[in-house]
Amino acid sequence: MALSDDIDRILISEDDLQARVAELGNEISALYSDEDCPLLVSVLKGSFIFLADLTRHIDVRHEVDFMVTSSYGAATESSGVVRILLDLESSVEGRHVMIVEDIVDTGYTLEYITRNMRTRGPASLRVCTLLSKPTRREVDVQLDIIGFEVPDEFVVGYGLDYAEHYRNLRFVGVLKQQVYARS
Ligand code: PRP
Repeated sequence: MALSDDIDRILISEDDLQARVAELGNEISALYSDEDCPLLVSVLKGSFIFLADLTRHIDVRHEVDFMVTSSYGAATESSGVVRILLDLESSVEGRHVMIVEDIVDTGYTLEYITRNMRTRGPASLRVCTLLSKPTRREVDVQLDIIGFEVPDEFVVGYGLDYAEHYRNLRFVGVLKQQVYARS
């Protein structure tokens, strides 16, 4: 059975994703045009595809680094418990930092990461997320750049997973309910 057979419908097409990511790249380039080599902090695993496309649309000198966090496990609901499984290689002290997320849902992950980053003394701290689910927010987090707002549905693809699958889909789609209901 094809992976895409588990998708109820496409929410954001490949073309719309690519067009919006190019716009975000331009926004970020303008934002940092006068700053010295900002650091993009990609929160893995979900943001790896977004980051890979985004970085190629940014036309100012910058660096990328990675952080692995986990909050969900194989479940579909956020537990509110955030763990750093792998930390950055770079020091962020005195640097302009932009956190790159695939999705902000309850906000717990981002709240934890931004609080953690602030203790490291960055020159500035901003957040870019491809997707935001505002109706699910439980903690208030500031988002500087948002790709798309999405409804409260189980979305996968373009980096987003269900139980580690579907990240490779080229679009963002809604997972069929029977897929997560059977586990
Ligand atoms: C997802 C996503 C965000 C977080 C958002 O990560 O990438 O980091 O959940 O949810 P929240 O706003 O409710 O905290 P997840 O822990 O599922 O890991 P993954 O990136 O490896 O898929």
